[in-house]
Amino acid sequence: MSHSAKITTDVEYVADVLNRGGVAGIPTETVYGLGARADLENSVHRIFDIKGRPRNHPLIAHVGDSVDFRQWAHFNSAAEKLAEHFWPGPLTLLLPKTHRVGLWVTGGRNTVALRMPRHDLTLRLLSLVNDPVVAPSANRFGKVSPTTAHHVANDLGNDVDCILDGGPCEYGLESTIIECNEENITVLRPGAITVQDISEFLDMSVSLDEGESRAPGMLLSHYAPNAEIRLVQTPEEAESVQNDLHSRDISSRILWFEDASQYATHLYDFLRQCDFNETSVVVAVLPSDFGIGTAIRDRLYKAAAAR
Ligand code: TXA
Ligand code: MG
Repeated sequence: MSHSAKITTDVEYVADVLNRGGVAGIPTETVYGLGARADLENSVHRIFDIKGRPRNHPLIAHVGDSVDFRQWAHFNSAAEKLAEHFWPGPLTLLLPKTHRVGLWVTGGRNTVALRMPRHDLTLRLLSLVNDPVVAPSANRFGKVSPTTAHHVANDLGNDVDCILDGGPCEYGLESTIIECNEENITVLRPGAITVQDISEFLDMSVSLDEGESRAPGMLLSHYAPNAEIRLVQTPEEAESVQNDLHSRDISSRILWFEDASQYATHLYDFLRQCDFNETSVVVAVLPSDFGIGTAIRDRLYKAAAAR
């Protein structure tokens, strides 16, 4: 484990690192990001190199609440309403980019993913950095996202310049990503803000459609721990699977939280602990397909598909 990067709560220090072209771990309400200034092409390239992420997988640009976010994307009326209502918060809007967004951010596409995170330290940070901060989740490509500063230090501590410690993430799952055209709205990645939330708010139908062509990187096996993930429907079924594994001397842990938001907050830390303890099998009980449960199921299916 490597911990050489400075872990700090000093926002001015981290802003200075980013403004000088550095790369920093940054907290958000969803997961920790690996941040760099969007307009600094070489710094953004470093993010791809550190993560081991293909250059054509576009990044999310994080905007603060002290400047006009319309400088970076063309907002239609639905997007305006959504930003007004859900920002700052765990919602990413996919919109046509303006000339101010470099193609190195968008993987060559003419759209950009924008979001305003709801985290006090990071909103202060964003107000001190001279452009949006691009940040994918601060994990190696295909691995489990970090939800504490220590997770980031364990994964990328030797490669980043510093880590802003904003405590454990409130939600623990990546933001909802939506494609936002004037006539139709599509959720490309489920998150804490649900299809129901968006369709009720806009009073229109919203579909859920994850597709590799629309959001590159989404269909690959992701969120993958070293352990094998076995999915079951009920806690009782989990126990019987665990008994069977135990009788065959295979180490396992049951992953289940009654409360869906607790489940979301603890999910990635639990999977990391299993890696640390070299647990062979994680027997994960699927939460019901409702609210944030939909996003948890999405991540569990992907983690299970990884092997
Ligand atoms: O909660 C989050 O969204 C976290 C925190 C750090 O903000 N970030 C995050 O970023 O999860 P990342 O890079 O792991 O996932 C962003 C995904 C990409 O994999 C891609 O599928 C999609 O967003 N995306 C970004 N820009 C896009 C674009 N222009 N067109 C299509 N998909 C895009
Ligand atoms: Mg990610």
